[in-house]
Amino acid sequence: MKVRKFAEQKIILGDVISVLNDCVEDGSIDLIFADPPYNIGKKFNGKQKKWNSDDEYMKWCYQWLDLCLRKVKNTGSIYIMAATQYMPYIDIYLRDKVTILSRIVWYYDSSGVQAKKYFGSLYEPILFGVKDKNNYTFNAEEIKIEAKTGAVRKLIDYRKQNPTVYNSKKVPGNVWYIPRVRYKMAEYRNHPTQKPEALLERIIKASSNPDDLILDLFAGTFTTSVVAKKLGRKSISIEIEEEYVKLGLERLNFVSEDKSNHTISNNQDFQLTLDINMEN
Ligand SMILES: C[S@@+](CC[C@H](N)C(=O)[O-])C[C@H]1O[C@@H](n2cnc3c(N)ncnc32)[C@H](O)[C@@H]1O
Repeated sequence: MKVRKFAEQKIILGDVISVLNDCVEDGSIDLIFADPPYNIGKKFNGKQKKWNSDDEYMKWCYQWLDLCLRKVKNTGSIYIMAATQYMPYIDIYLRDKVTILSRIVWYYDSSGVQAKKYFGSLYEPILFGVKDKNNYTFNAEEIKIEAKTGAVRKLIDYRKQNPTVYNSKKVPGNVWYIPRVRYKMAEYRNHPTQKPEALLERIIKASSNPDDLILDLFAGTFTTSVVAKKLGRKSISIEIEEEYVKLGLERLNFVSEDKSNHTISNNQDFQLTLDINMEN
């Protein structure tokens, strides 16, 4: 095994359930992001991830959701992504365990191949919940966006005693337009469901502070760790596919250019914890 040390970002190769049980301390996480396989037949590293029934898939989801609730601090937040058809189950399961503050719609442009006989899917839902609705992080100032009414249309609010121009900045609503990652974009990696850095940037800026600890259950291309590193947060990222772990190590500049030497343990049963210290 050859890894570079990076103290703030931890990468764990292994199965989410056993890693959460064995390697993550209860009540230690400020922000959890979970972007699981959607059970819609996508292939990860050439292997199709499809459960035999919806029930089986949801049982598996409830297992890691329960573990998330154990791992997150009382002041912490969780963001869960899912396919549109499964999100209602997750919502109902979680709503009496956490306070759901936002049901976010992330939408994007068409990929060129468009449905012709029905309305094609161009959005993914994200659930945002907190353990304690009276005590959680939400850095509104950090994520403000342009408010068209004040910034572009320059409209005046005449309802006020002294009429003034509407605000030119606002906290985004729960419908987010963020383009998907496309081939040849600088952040693009070879993974079927890579999420854009801009999406994670908004979530991490809003719901964590510098030095906070973020947990990503299904790291894929390690978008969360990349953005966490950029924003000065700590992270723990779990991924079952070794190819993607290698990809993450490269994306985070944890490995040198000589790829031939980057061997990572093949032990399927246990997780290799690459506890790395920043040297670059
Ligand atoms: C939807 S993708 C995550 C994409 C990621 N958010 C990104 O921006 O690249 C889900 C990932 O979960 C991984 N995965 C699937 N089953 C897993 C398991 N049991 N434990 C850990 N990771 C798993 C897959 O290999 C895949 O890379």
